Amino acid sequence: MSNFNSHASDAISPALVPQRVLANGAKIPAIGMGTFGSDHVTGSDVANAVLAAAELGYRHFDCAAVYGNEDQIGAIFNAITASGTGIRREDLWITSKLWNDKHAAHDVIPSFEKSLRDLRLDYLDLYLVHWPFPNFHPPGCDVSSRSDEAKPYIHEKFMETWGQLEILHDRGLVRHIGTSNVTIPKLKRILRDARIRPAVNEMELHPHFQQPELFNFVRANNIVPVGYCPLGSPGRPERDRTPEDTDPLTDPVILRIAAAHDVHPAAICLKWAAQRGQVPIPFSSKRTNIRANLAAVTSDPLTDAEMDAIAKIDRGCRFIKGQVFLWGTHTDWRVLWDEDGTIKA
Ligand SMILES: NC(=O)c1ccc[n+]([C@@H]2O[C@H](COP(=O)([O-])OP(=O)(O)OC[C@H]3O[C@@H](n4cnc5c(N)ncnc54)[C@H](OP(=O)(O)O)[C@@H]3O)[C@@H](O)[C@H]2O)c1
Repeated sequence: MSNFNSHASDAISPALVPQRVLANGAKIPAIGMGTFGSDHVTGSDVANAVLAAAELGYRHFDCAAVYGNEDQIGAIFNAITASGTGIRREDLWITSKLWNDKHAAHDVIPSFEKSLRDLRLDYLDLYLVHWPFPNFHPPGCDVSSRSDEAKPYIHEKFMETWGQLEILHDRGLVRHIGTSNVTIPKLKRILRDARIRPAVNEMELHPHFQQPELFNFVRANNIVPVGYCPLGSPGRPERDRTPEDTDPLTDPVILRIAAAHDVHPAAICLKWAAQRGQVPIPFSSKRTNIRANLAAVTSDPLTDAEMDAIAKIDRGCRFIKGQVFLWGTHTDWRVLWDEDGTIKA
């Protein structure tokens, strides 16, 4: 790829993007570009969006093996850091994630190495265990899909997987390791037993799903919360929708604040996220939206009164419910999320 424009006239200086400080003192840009194209955006469209994002000033990219596009994105990372662009590898923050069918100890490092190869990198800034359940299901399957092999969270098994991430960290191949889609009871055990603590926890976070207990727990333990679906994932597949789902982008409070700032409601969700202290990772396939999302966190902050008003519109509405991870005879996805404070078997 040679079409990277390092002097785009619509760029925003990366120096304006706030940074969050991790437990070891390293810094992570306070907004990242998501790379999950869902059902309607192809791998090459996502790669083009990553190219546009880098031109526009993003330096943080949230990738995952299961998104099926790391190879295409890797070609873009190569172009971004090619000589003459002025961007060095160390200027980027790149995350990838271990998929659920690769939790067995002997699968972790080969799976990581494939992501690294596909992304054309020699180290990652962050490697996450994507879900705490070791349950395979085919990408894109229906929410009713179940595996006979499905298992609950088994802490000892999870720590074997985590031990492999610790080895990657020891070898200097990943700068930080982290969790995703865990709950407070699971995190308490992980923090008790980990030799290397998670630097980051990736979790669903938007104005209608603020997860205050988990958010506060994570921060109290010096872990940076990264918030996925920060706009409420308006483009998520039909299979991930239920009739009870709400929509933060049409919430009257968000609409009122958006009108006051003369921006799209998406910008208000992102300003709120960055000011609250989480790292939102919005995805967009459109250059104007990609730019607007970066502009949201670099200009015109919300007032304290606006932040307070958004704190009051939490609806506890989880969009990514995880039904496909259900095991045994369980039929209610709530069992995955330890809502009564205990880990279910
Ligand atoms: N760890 C996990 O388990 C997990 C789970 C889910 C997601 N993630 C990560 O989080 C990222 C973000 O989640 P997501 O992509 O589901 O949801 P999202 O970022 O909340 O929403 C993306 C959707 O919002 C639209 N959009 C983006 N910017 C906009 C703007 N300024 N104005 C209007 N619409 C806008 C996009 O459409 P256009 O393309 O038309 O702009 C796209 O359909 C993913 O890409 C992935 O990297 C992680």
